[in-house]
Amino acid sequence: MTMASSIVSTLILLLLLLLHVTSSSAAGIIGVNYGRIADNLPDPTKVVQLLKSNGINRIKLYDTDSTVLKALAGSNIAVTVALPNNLLSAAAANQSFTDNWIQSNILPYYPSTLIDAIAVGNEVFVDPNNTTDFLVSAMKNVYDSLQKNKININVSSPIALSALETSYPPSSGSFKPELIEPVMKPMLSFLKKTGSYLMVNAYPFFAYGANTDTISLDYALLRENKGVTDSKSGINYKTLLEAQLDAVYSAMDALQFHDVKMIVSETGWPSKGDSNESGAGEENAAQYNGNLVRRVLTGGGSPLRPNDPLVVYLFALFNENLKTGPTSERNYGLFYPNEQKVYNVPLSMEAFAVSNNGSKAEVAVAPASGGGDVTASTVGETWCVANGRVGEEKLQAALDYACGEGGADCRPIQSGDTCYDPNTLEAHASYAFNSYYQKQARGSGSCDFGGAAYVVSQPPRFGSCKFPTSN
Ligand SMILES: *[C@@H]1O[C@H](CO)[C@@H](O)[C@H](O)[C@H]1NC(C)=O
Ligand SMILES: *[C@@H]1O[C@H](CO)[C@@H](O)[C@H](O)[C@H]1NC(C)=O
Ligand SMILES: *[C@@H]1O[C@H](CO)[C@@H](O)[C@H](O)[C@H]1NC(C)=O
Ligand SMILES: *[C@@H]1O[C@H](CO)[C@@H](O)[C@H](O)[C@H]1NC(C)=O
Ligand SMILES: *[C@@H]1O[C@H](CO)[C@@H](O)[C@H](O)[C@H]1NC(C)=O
Ligand SMILES: *[C@@H]1O[C@H](CO)[C@@H](O)[C@H](O)[C@H]1NC(C)=O
Repeated sequence: MTMASSIVSTLILLLLLLLHVTSSSAAGIIGVNYGRIADNLPDPTKVVQLLKSNGINRIKLYDTDSTVLKALAGSNIAVTVALPNNLLSAAAANQSFTDNWIQSNILPYYPSTLIDAIAVGNEVFVDPNNTTDFLVSAMKNVYDSLQKNKININVSSPIALSALETSYPPSSGSFKPELIEPVMKPMLSFLKKTGSYLMVNAYPFFAYGANTDTISLDYALLRENKGVTDSKSGINYKTLLEAQLDAVYSAMDALQFHDVKMIVSETGWPSKGDSNESGAGEENAAQYNGNLVRRVLTGGGSPLRPNDPLVVYLFALFNENLKTGPTSERNYGLFYPNEQKVYNVPLSMEAFAVSNNGSKAEVAVAPASGGGDVTASTVGETWCVANGRVGEEKLQAALDYACGEGGADCRPIQSGDTCYDPNTLEAHASYAFNSYYQKQARGSGSCDFGGAAYVVSQPPRFGSCKFPTSN
């Protein structure tokens, strides 16, 4: 190889690496809320193991509990902590209060515990103790105290969707007028100035429950459906959650905050409810969470912010037995306190690909984008191929996963090798998915890739490339 050609191939390699990085950044992020209003939860050190074994690397807490933060040290799990509502008035009144709070609640754990955000208060606008007036000053004081210590942690505050005056159609979204001047404008200015993001707690479950006559369950659960078209923007929404998020984006746009990012700090679906809580139930909870995780890990952003991949914290890690209110409140967990799954939903891309063989809930989870086949055949020869309908971004992300962490044999699709031609994304992805599928002994769920792949019983035809049938 000449010097020039080796430089060229090095450059090409760098370019490919760069493409790889940019394309996989299109996938969103899943986190989980670790609520602890219960008297029967496992020890935090066991919880950290549970998180790791399920591929969960982001969590959100409702406080700064020291046993939890210590257990998370060195775990590489990113943590959002919280300053609770009952401290807001003190935090707003007095900078030395927030200095002390940071000193005793953040500094002892940071950075060995990866604290990456502080939620100042939670759903403050609906707090019966009227803490709204303290919110923005408290956020500013917390931020200034962090700055004094040269710590870079985002400061935000989760708002409930009830902060909206109008949420339908999404393009007409607006904040409640009484919140706009006193709190929304100053809060959004603060978020913009500090490079932080808005946190929104969004529950399609409640919107569905209040409107079962007009909202379809398929639309709420992210199943196949004809969608709902926003008559003003013409956008056809396939999921209620995305319509809710775009209503918030529209409300921000109306106040000229076009560039503040947003994350979903809570969303979920209860596996049990009272008889008047429409939609509550195990199957629906499995479908909501399963389809949502798939949507987040394989897709871009919502229609109004397509380039901002969704960041979603599921509610919640455990069923919490001491929560008050309707039965649903105690049944949002992905896990029982004994660490058994309430239903089987894969929580990471990897878990999706290798998810348990034939378990009930996994089969029940419908592919969000269609075309996926979660029931693998075990008789006769089968192969796995790419589903072109999911679009380039999802295919590329899944291909990157298969050839990377997934451990598929991707040598034959490299330039010059036997399966490089035809040089199309669908052909290359098919080769990689099939390699992965065969390596996993065609286990159920191993030809899925978040809906980007499906099983076929005829040998795939891509040029003269031979797809292996077993390893
Ligand atoms: C401010 O906070 C500090 C520390 O919490 C406390 O000692 C002091 O009394 C507070 N001052 C006022 C005016 O509230
Ligand atoms: C309201 O504030 C009082 C006094 O600080 C406290 O005891 C109570 O728990 C608070 N209520 C809520 C809903 O936060
Ligand atoms: C909160 O504000 C409402 C309406 O302004 C008022 O009726 C209520 O008494 C206040 N509650 C507290 C605990 O201050
Ligand atoms: C803070 O939020 C911004 C906007 O989403 C993000 O780019 C940045 O990485 C976050 N910072 C930290 C320390 O997590
Ligand atoms: C269900 O019934 C209970 C008790 O009658 C009531 O308090 C609650 O508001 C109802 N919930 C819904 C969602 O209708
Ligand atoms: C998958 O299921 C089959 C039959 O139920 C079983 O024999 C096999 O061991 C399972 N494989 C894994 C990886 O769990």
